[in-house]
Amino acid sequence: MIKLTPMLPKYLEQVMTLSIADEQLAYVGTIEEVLVNADDKVHPHLVLADEQVVGIFLIDTIYSDRYDFAPSECLGFRAFLIDIKYQGLGYGKAVIAQLKSYLNHQYQQNDMVYLTVNCKNPVAYQCYLNNGFADLGELFNGGAAGPQHIMLMKIDTE
Ligand SMILES: CC(C)(COP(=O)(O)OP(=O)(O)OC[C@H]1O[C@@H](n2cnc3c(N)ncnc32)[C@H](O)[C@@H]1OP(=O)(O)O)[C@@H](O)C(=O)NCCC(=O)NCCS
Repeated sequence: MIKLTPMLPKYLEQVMTLSIADEQLAYVGTIEEVLVNADDKVHPHLVLADEQVVGIFLIDTIYSDRYDFAPSECLGFRAFLIDIKYQGLGYGKAVIAQLKSYLNHQYQQNDMVYLTVNCKNPVAYQCYLNNGFADLGELFNGGAAGPQHIMLMKIDTE
């Protein structure tokens, strides 16, 4: 149903059209704000449905430099969004269900992926919890939009 791929230049035009609801902006920001965080250590990946770009996320390879709770060598899953037109269709949960296998292939030297999700964002929290992430049971209080759950998933096994 969906395919995950590292960002490629041919998709840039479609990527720039991705948007979310105004009330969701506090959780990830605009697509411009997402892309400005991408560099050689923070990699953009896309969610494709029949070659249509429906979402994006960042994989942060130096996550532990930013977050004290994260062990070195773990990856960070950041800035995940599904375009507003495609939300509620099952794409979000399909991404998380595929993430372990995808990251296992793309980042073979890493064994864990971490994320934070705002406590006021139950749709995203449930999407992670029901599809492979575990709640660490501690809150991260450094986010601009309020406390966040810390979640993790092992990726070194199929
Ligand atoms: C969070 C997000 C990625 C989920 O993607 P999605 O494609 O809309 O989610 P899905 O359609 O796969 O649904 C996932 C679950 O949430 C539920 N859900 C989806 N939209 C919902 C809504 N508006 N209200 C309540 N529940 C909802 C679905 O029922 C599903 O639960 P289920 O497993 O019981 O069926 C998407 O809503 C999004 O981009 N939100 C804005 C950005 C954001 O908050 N990102 C997360 C940052 S940590």
